[in-house]
Amino acid sequence: MSQDRADETAEGLDDRLRRRVLWAMPTGLYVVGSRSGPRLNLMTASLCVQVAVQPKLVGVSVDAAAVTAGLIAAGRCFSVSLLHRDDRAVVRRFVKPVPDDEVVLDDEVEAVSMAGEDVLTAATGAPVLARAAAWLDCVLRHQVALGSHTLYVGEVVAVGGPPEGVPPVLRMEDTRMSYGG
Ligand SMILES: Cc1cc2nc3c(=O)[nH]c(=O)nc-3n(C[C@H](O)[C@H](O)[C@H](O)COP(=O)(O)O)c2cc1C
Repeated sequence: MSQDRADETAEGLDDRLRRRVLWAMPTGLYVVGSRSGPRLNLMTASLCVQVAVQPKLVGVSVDAAAVTAGLIAAGRCFSVSLLHRDDRAVVRRFVKPVPDDEVVLDDEVEAVSMAGEDVLTAATGAPVLARAAAWLDCVLRHQVALGSHTLYVGEVVAVGGPPEGVPPVLRMEDTRMSYGG
């Protein structure tokens, strides 16, 4: 170990270095949909990954204070929209709760528009972005309180995307954004 690195260890974790290392972990960038009855929300999320193969489980870690946390816990489902790689502007629309009054429910076609984006309804009832490159629809199977965040683990019950293959999707490294750390 170099002297510099030994010094960092000896002095304990440097907060800035720790944050930089955590930010350097490669992550995707998604829009998580949630629904409880007529209440819908879409939220930009990076703490999202497949966590088991059989069954097919996907975990998303949500700030315990976020609107999405309450909706997933109550509605027991969530969706994950994967975005086209050049669609980075979309994630900025969903870093604040989408007010209920911007949601237009149409019972006939089960279609909604949120923050100016067309939204489709997945099998669970969770909203997914119509412009998504692909999406996953999940039924909540596990919920773990982790402090600042709650980990919601869902089983994939439906998917959408082009049958010929999913195009390149947006990742955190395609943006100037970061989260966590
Ligand atoms: C790049 C980026 C990634 C984010 N990732 C997450 C995440 O994984 N989990 C989370 O709880 N909030 C995340 N956020 C913050 C939420 O998008 C934001 O706090 C949102 O308002 C909270 O969701 P709500 O609409 O359900 O209240 C992220 C924000 C940005 C800009």
